[in-house]
Amino acid sequence: MCGIVGAVASRPVQEILLEGLRRLEYRGYDSAGVALQTEKGIQRCRRTGKVQALADALHDQPLQGKTGIAHTRWATHGVPNEANAHPHMSADQLAVVHNGIIENFEELKQELQAQGYEFSSDTDTEVIAHLLARELNKVSSLHTAVANIIGQLEGAYALGVIEKSDPSQLVTARKGSPLVIGVGMGENFIASDQLALLQVTDRFMFLEDGDVATLTAEQIIVTDINGAKAERKVSQFEHGVSAADKGEYKHFMLKEIYEQPEVISACLEGRISGDKLLEQCFGARAASIFDQVKQVQIIACGTSFHAGLIAKYWIEELVGIPCMVEVASEYRYRTVVIPQGTLFLTISQSGETADTLAALREVQSRVLASLVICNVPGSSLVRESDLALMTNAGPEIGVASTKAFTTQLTALMLTTIALGRRHNLDAQTEATIISALRKLPQQVEQALAMDADIEQMAGAFAEKHHTLFLGRGTLYPVAKEGALKLKEISYIHAECYPAGELKHGPLALVDKDMPVVAVAPQNDMLDKLKANLQEVRARGGELFVFAGSDRVQAEEGTYVLTMPECEEIMQPVLYTIPLQLLSYHVAVLKGTDVDQPRNLAKSVTVE
Ligand code: F6R
Repeated sequence: MCGIVGAVASRPVQEILLEGLRRLEYRGYDSAGVALQTEKGIQRCRRTGKVQALADALHDQPLQGKTGIAHTRWATHGVPNEANAHPHMSADQLAVVHNGIIENFEELKQELQAQGYEFSSDTDTEVIAHLLARELNKVSSLHTAVANIIGQLEGAYALGVIEKSDPSQLVTARKGSPLVIGVGMGENFIASDQLALLQVTDRFMFLEDGDVATLTAEQIIVTDINGAKAERKVSQFEHGVSAADKGEYKHFMLKEIYEQPEVISACLEGRISGDKLLEQCFGARAASIFDQVKQVQIIACGTSFHAGLIAKYWIEELVGIPCMVEVASEYRYRTVVIPQGTLFLTISQSGETADTLAALREVQSRVLASLVICNVPGSSLVRESDLALMTNAGPEIGVASTKAFTTQLTALMLTTIALGRRHNLDAQTEATIISALRKLPQQVEQALAMDADIEQMAGAFAEKHHTLFLGRGTLYPVAKEGALKLKEISYIHAECYPAGELKHGPLALVDKDMPVVAVAPQNDMLDKLKANLQEVRARGGELFVFAGSDRVQAEEGTYVLTMPECEEIMQPVLYTIPLQLLSYHVAVLKGTDVDQPRNLAKSVTVE
């Protein structure tokens, strides 16, 4: 999704802005631009394609200035071209960058056009530039102008604005879209996330919805939704700066896959003691809320949704209460029945996914309480939920989610224990699960050691156009996640079915050109799954099986990789690892952009 960077300093800021944009590249975008306050007024430069194209243009014709804004655009209104790229200007008076969607932009545009404002793009953002110019005919302060016009904007926005008459200031505002202020020494910044600014500061201020802030090099003045002066806390970035670098790895995705033993440990740290969960990790209010929970409604998107599907198995089996799971984009728009005592559980890496956030806002007043499992402290979902359990995975830069998923599962198991204690889960079972969780980082390490074999296996997929993933029980959502990973980074069509559904239709697809991947650990479903795999072999399908015992035998057309031992309850985490590695190696063989796959964005902050 779109990324914003802005800076106001007593040194030239062009390179700071460009570096910020590079650090936001992982969010996904199709054009980039900057605008700076220069001696000749506001000057801008925009390019389609990569930030490097913008950097090359600025290398040839640098912009000198100490205040500026920059943007990476992910097209929503209007195709990705230079005219639609941000910043947008109103004549040469002011420049705006925007993340979000202005839903009433058509009406506003017609009104402004009727008053003589000329539009040079198809974007919703350009209306903001002209609205501000119109407002500045009435008020003299840019801060007041921004505060006055945001009431007319329906939808979501994070804004950065500079205005020609005062080169020493940058005004920002947000509602529903992410934006942080980076607090420097004699310089201040804005960005869509903290990672973009780690090169210049590690202290951040988070704005509330409806806030407007004016930044100069020396100070930050914030007003709230009612126009009153507001104090916003400054906090220190929690993870090491190196968390945002690739280090020795070729791609962020590979680095993040390999970080999983460490981050699963980080997710457990301080939350378990001896053979018990420390329930206080959910916050002071958690115990009294959990006491009243009668069912759980899980809402999430994409990979996070798959984590929710696994949690459903755990909650219904170990807690013994109903658990529903649905994708946020459907749930938010349908009439939903919410039974009494519903815990509304959202799962999100970014904490900013528009559909998930909208679903929460839609039902917040009708549920017992909301809990978010999230990776980004200070994100909207964390701020707006009653309870939050952070996954502690550290920054995830690769667009394809990996370590976020396995830490979500870890956090969901802790949630299952907390709820289970009040229902079907006895102390003995709790101790068994805690012991299984403790062993997990080492077992994941062992699964990572299979990398070379998986890399070799990847060769069988690189030339194929379609694949089928199969699993049963908790391993069905794991297979779904494996299929999602493969399609998003290698662009190979990957379908996934619960193996028992094969004969109800998908078997018709199976032939020698459609490799079939199966996750087949030792559990109660293994015999059933093996029968399903026979159905595939009988139709000439080639099988690639990640198996937990020697009961799945390699033979012609059946390739088996044996997984490390692990407790049954933790199989979903462990069996995710080889599927992540498989999709990674297939994508590398195909030469795709692994960390920034086409058409995708890391943080989906618009609908
Ligand atoms: C897939 C992926 C996406 C996200 C989805 C939800 O690898 O990353 O499917 O899982 O966009 O994002 P979050 O978890 O940030 O709400």
